[in-house]
Amino acid sequence: LPAALIDRFDRKIDYLRLSVMDRCDLRCHYCLPKGFRDFAEPAEWLNFDEITRVAKIFGELGVRRLRLTGGEPLLRKNLSRLVRSIRDLQLFDDISLSTNATQLTQQAHELYEAGVSRLNISLDSLDPSMVQAITGRDSLQSVMAGLDAAVATGFSPIKINMVVMAENMHEVPAMTEFCIKRGFVLRLIEAMPMGVTGAAAEFINLSVLRERLVSQFNLIAQPTHVGGGPAQYWQTADGKGSLGFITPKSQHFCNTCNRVRLSTEGTLYLCLGQNDKVELGSLMREGASDNELRAAIVSGISMKPEHHEFNEKPQQVLRFMSKTGG
Ligand code: GTP
Ligand code: 5AD
Ligand code: SF4
Repeated sequence: LPAALIDRFDRKIDYLRLSVMDRCDLRCHYCLPKGFRDFAEPAEWLNFDEITRVAKIFGELGVRRLRLTGGEPLLRKNLSRLVRSIRDLQLFDDISLSTNATQLTQQAHELYEAGVSRLNISLDSLDPSMVQAITGRDSLQSVMAGLDAAVATGFSPIKINMVVMAENMHEVPAMTEFCIKRGFVLRLIEAMPMGVTGAAAEFINLSVLRERLVSQFNLIAQPTHVGGGPAQYWQTADGKGSLGFITPKSQHFCNTCNRVRLSTEGTLYLCLGQNDKVELGSLMREGASDNELRAAIVSGISMKPEHHEFNEKPQQVLRFMSKTGG
């Protein structure tokens, strides 16, 4: 039994992203476009025992961080029960959740009690009509209520994910001010071409925008931060505001990649930007032993690609972000 998952490029894999629901109540055009129908059937979703079983094996193989994603994870019924059984494994130092926050007022408290300590929340604009245009729904109010609930519950830190595109780029300074004022960590994200979302055309080079923001808000590089993802952080002079940049297209971070992703149906995707995968769900349902599952995971890690090819081959990954789990 290996004590850690190390891939061919000497990267240690200690972060598992678990997608627990491929559906979503929103239709962000870069993630899950209108009219998309190819969702998994509920019978295909890993059940909570199956998810916990896989999480345990990853934990025993040295994974220390676990993030719940989707689709929209809060649409999975009784999600806090799953969180509790994962927390009770006592294998993870960091259990976090990425959500659109529309359902958060109802669930914030139980999720926190069950063991989620920090939240990353998607919000691309503060303008109701822009939010409607990007997410396909009139969702700003429910997200704002979700943010208030997150603060009141005590999640920390709370990060806001903003995918920067031509249409919302002018809102970056206002979003920065809003997040500094409310104590949220704003992360600006370059859109990645997943599926046929047209995100390829919309990509805004954040390495350029960063220069402008650094001087406008007097930012300095921030050496440490809470989290295990690819963002690079800058902070305000008083240390109270923090701004993260996620730049898969202009400056990729694959050389320090630490993660793999498990889909709702139990497909292990070895890289966000590649098609390599291992079907752990069907293995489990064919009666695989823990040893067999472990062997499948270890051999999967040995196939983990060196990097994505979003720039070179933008139409390579035809699965949508909602399927892969962000
Ligand atoms: P923490 O740093 O632990 O808070 O999490 P995170 O930033 O990794 O998670 P989150 O779900 O908030 O992801 C934010 C954005 O980063 C999303 O747009 C993801 O698709 C992107 N992202 C996260 N991990 C990867 C990765 O491994 N590769 C690429 N290319 N993008 C990623
Ligand atoms: N490119 C970049 N980020 C994306 N997200 C969803 N789709 C894309 C894409 N095509 C982001 C969401 C969410 C996070 C988990 O992933 O905005 O905040
Ligand atoms: Fe890791 Fe692939 Fe993301 Fe690069 S694109 S950071 S290799 S998952």
